[in-house]
Amino acid sequence: MPTPNQKPNDPCGCKSGKRYADCHGPIIEAPKGKAIDVAQGMYAKNWAVNAQHYEAQGLYAKLAAELAVACDIRRVLDVGCGLGQGLKALAEAIPQPGRLIVGIDENPDCLKAASDLLAVPAAGTALRRIKPERQLSGYYASKVATTPLKLGGDLLLVNVDLMVPDPAFEAWLDATGPFDAITLWFSGIHPARSMTKVSQKLGAKSDADLREALEDRVMKFAIKRLRADGVLQMVQRFAGNVDAVRQQRETEVLSALTGYPFELISVRDYIYSEPTSNKAMTVDSVFVDLSGHARFALSILMRRNDTPDDTMIEAGNGL
Ligand SMILES: C[S@@+](CC[C@H](N)C(=O)[O-])C[C@H]1O[C@@H](n2cnc3c(N)ncnc32)[C@H](O)[C@@H]1O
Repeated sequence: MPTPNQKPNDPCGCKSGKRYADCHGPIIEAPKGKAIDVAQGMYAKNWAVNAQHYEAQGLYAKLAAELAVACDIRRVLDVGCGLGQGLKALAEAIPQPGRLIVGIDENPDCLKAASDLLAVPAAGTALRRIKPERQLSGYYASKVATTPLKLGGDLLLVNVDLMVPDPAFEAWLDATGPFDAITLWFSGIHPARSMTKVSQKLGAKSDADLREALEDRVMKFAIKRLRADGVLQMVQRFAGNVDAVRQQRETEVLSALTGYPFELISVRDYIYSEPTSNKAMTVDSVFVDLSGHARFALSILMRRNDTPDDTMIEAGNGL
């Protein structure tokens, strides 16, 4: 975290390359107890620049089409659904009737934007279930609503932090049954996540640690909530040499899958362009000059290859 008292035009101390006023400034200077709300609001606004640019390039539609070819999907749960562009593409790729598309996100501002984009009726939404509460330690705990979830419709949006225990959502998942596919497209976390108890408990040293912890969590979630032969799709952004990075990632995934009940189906690349606005969240690095390198998304498809009841891996968090 950068230090307070930087000037608005100073480069932010987090080394993002952005102005302090456009980066951590508003979070550090937020009213007491409001840092997480401020960070979530900023994140939703900034990610909109990316998501709209990716949608205009047809990126979400291509990812949804790839998933629909790999698996007969009727029921899908999208982790970190953001502003809903991915859900929209999934809804276009999954035929009605009998479908169920669930988007979960820890950020209520993202979910509000998703409910506007998708025109999800109120009965299909539970947009604000998590309250950030500042502790004496300075870290923020997440107070999660325990009221049973009542949701209606085939496109649902639920405020869930997959890193936080959530008995009401767990009960809803138990009653709803397994999914054909689970997706995690472009994982990312808001800039005050390091101020949460989630981060403190994990001992996370960087945003990359937090993203990695979420990916691990999604693997365990998928073990509990995917049907036999169901598919998990993770999509990540990269810059550099496409073939080299794809091959390296494939080797890493194969090694990471040892001991998990999943087989790798494919690692496929999608070249795209990042928005040029300085509000966007790009994969550019202030440490390495990536100018001239291709930007691409890698879509990693994994199929569950056991019988769910046989798997005794501790799923953690209960979810
Ligand atoms: C980079 S955005 C991607 C959004 C969307 N998947 C897309 O492709 O446009 C990452 C999203 O994951 C959400 N997220 C991060 N950590 C989460 C967690 N632990 N539980 C649920 N959502 C999370 C963020 O709030 C954010 O909306």
